[in-house]
Amino acid sequence: MTQKIFPEYLSLHSQNTSLVLELPAGEAPIWRYWGPRIRDEAPHDLRGSRPLPSFMLDFDQPLTLAPSFGVGWLGQSALLAHRNGQAFAQAFTQCDVHWEVPAQSVRVVLTDPVVAIELTVHLSMDHSSDVLTLKSSLRNLGETALDVQWLAAGTLLLPAQAQNVRSYAGQHNHEFLLQTDKLSRSLWRRESRRGRTSHDCFPGAVVTTEGTTESMGLVYGAHLAWSGNHQQTIEWLHDAQYQWQVGEWLAPGEGLLAAGATLHTPELVASCSSQGLNGLAANFHAELRARLNWPGGQMRPRPVHLNTWEGFYFDVYPDKVKELATAAAAVGVERFVLDDGWFHGRHHDRAALGDWWPDESKFPQGLGDLVAHVNALGMEFGLWFEPEMINPDSDLYRAHPDWALQLAGRPLITARNQLVLDIARPEVSDYLFEKIDALLSAQPIRYIKWDHNRDLTTAGLHDGAAGYRAQVHAAYALFARIRAAHPEVEIESCSGGGGRIDFGVLRHTHRVWTSDCIDAMSRVGIQRGFLQFFPPEIMGAHVGSARAHTTGRTQSMAFRAAVALPGHLGVELDARILSDADAAELKAWIQMYKDLRDRLHHGHVWQGTIDDGIVWQAHGDVDAAGMASDVLLLVYRTQPTHHRYSPRLPLPMLDTQAHYRVRQLVPAGTVLPTGAHNTAPFFDALNVGDGMTLDGGWLRHAGLPLPRAQAETAFIVQLTRV
Ligand code: DGJ
Repeated sequence: MTQKIFPEYLSLHSQNTSLVLELPAGEAPIWRYWGPRIRDEAPHDLRGSRPLPSFMLDFDQPLTLAPSFGVGWLGQSALLAHRNGQAFAQAFTQCDVHWEVPAQSVRVVLTDPVVAIELTVHLSMDHSSDVLTLKSSLRNLGETALDVQWLAAGTLLLPAQAQNVRSYAGQHNHEFLLQTDKLSRSLWRRESRRGRTSHDCFPGAVVTTEGTTESMGLVYGAHLAWSGNHQQTIEWLHDAQYQWQVGEWLAPGEGLLAAGATLHTPELVASCSSQGLNGLAANFHAELRARLNWPGGQMRPRPVHLNTWEGFYFDVYPDKVKELATAAAAVGVERFVLDDGWFHGRHHDRAALGDWWPDESKFPQGLGDLVAHVNALGMEFGLWFEPEMINPDSDLYRAHPDWALQLAGRPLITARNQLVLDIARPEVSDYLFEKIDALLSAQPIRYIKWDHNRDLTTAGLHDGAAGYRAQVHAAYALFARIRAAHPEVEIESCSGGGGRIDFGVLRHTHRVWTSDCIDAMSRVGIQRGFLQFFPPEIMGAHVGSARAHTTGRTQSMAFRAAVALPGHLGVELDARILSDADAAELKAWIQMYKDLRDRLHHGHVWQGTIDDGIVWQAHGDVDAAGMASDVLLLVYRTQPTHHRYSPRLPLPMLDTQAHYRVRQLVPAGTVLPTGAHNTAPFFDALNVGDGMTLDGGWLRHAGLPLPRAQAETAFIVQLTRV
């Protein structure tokens, strides 16, 4: 057989990236390239450029878009399946390519006529965000059931320069805990079987290459848009490249496909950037922003919240709550959210989940009076639910014990005293819809905080089959049904803080509760990880009480507020008992947020650190050349300095050919430190009038001087190109 030098190939391009697959006849497409944009010219044929190694298969089998056992592939397969113990080795020998949008969106249909399956891999590259989306569907064309153990949403190629993988571990109260592993010939794998996105294992990662920094170097990122179990592996290949597979982790039996049935994977959202970690973050932010489904079609300025939880916990008696609302309105809050504790019998966390009507001892006349009070103060009203859960001690459970996910013959495993409802049962989701709909229809409730406070364990459906996957689909359907009935309502995804933050749930929701930990020091790290994938306007960020409930540490109002400021700001404390000085300070920070939120909530976010306990982030727009025009810079000093003189901060986004007006921003009424050790003429000048005009090249390369400051303080500066 004569080999063609220039075979058929398929390429997708975005503004800055390209993907190339080779299309040999009678095989799945061979992965050739994913990286910085290249020209649309035919590459040479892969097999023709790499002689066979010794003692290997006599036929070169490179990585394909759907690597599988049946072709002699020895690495991780994109598909693991069998038919009653047979047909375990699939091989796709037919490939049809259907373009939806030339060079941007394509369906690759792969068939294995022997095993009788058809795999469709959908690839789409977004021109402006540089985001590549993959999803797969497997159809059983045979006459018997096919048991699928694993079906990757997509298989990606990583180049040989890939060096480290940054993934996120964590737990309740500490999400987005960065874990960096060096890639090697060992298989790298992370998986989660908790039935939700999880605090412990974020479904995604970032792969860096040598020399990558926050603002430079080639990086790759991938994230599964899914709120259930997940798995990802990175595997070294014999040509020194790597394959990266991401998909849903299927519990035994969840992938059992009847004759004619199709299994659809969630979407894999991936991107690469030559602009380091911040460039990659910008791509994910742009993609998510394009996907968010806002009431009215577009985001309105993110209203300041007050959430009752840490102020009152379950003690939500109407008089107190009204007083809190009055105090909240006085400091500038715009949306008042009544958290847990308002519904029938809910006085602690041991009872009542499922009984979604107002508690008769707290709200004998219902919520109307409170909602009217909140509205009269000029605030929207929001209400907390945890729809997917049920306490054994509830009227609902007493009436329908079989509605909880469970396994016959096994004990019920509670967590936070609760069980999970089988919402894939239509009567269960109908019940929840009716209860939520009744409340939203009776009062002008414009916001739902939708919580989910436990992992799924023995998630058995009523027929004894595993119900993790069904649960996620049913939750999405319930979100969609409520949104369709109440399109003006925004929804927050909360799951014991950040246990359900992903692009899947964000098809239906508009904000996430980033963490139950409101300690500003902890939040600096949590928010840093969050912002790698998600934009700041959906990041619930609250000013808590001085002494953080979860860590016991105490921080100043200024530090708490400055850390929360760039996100979707809220307040979570008993505002009734603030001193006059604290209330005035909080009010000034809230006003500052209102003045800045338009700047904070679009455009780029750059983040970085200086090895002296300094963490910074900047928000701004860039011009066509990638240079920033108007930048809001937030610098957090987390530790006391180790230096006599503070290190300078180079600002890599600034235009070296421009000048910037630099002005320190402080909330009204703030008294800045004085005295020779605390300030210097430079910093005094940043606070007078329009501040100082400085050279962009100087600031970019030599850096901005930073004030001497104590630990747990912030320095906020606006830089405007003149
Ligand atoms: C967990 C959430 O993260 C908190 O904010 C609060 O809503 C509690 N659940 C209420 O039970």
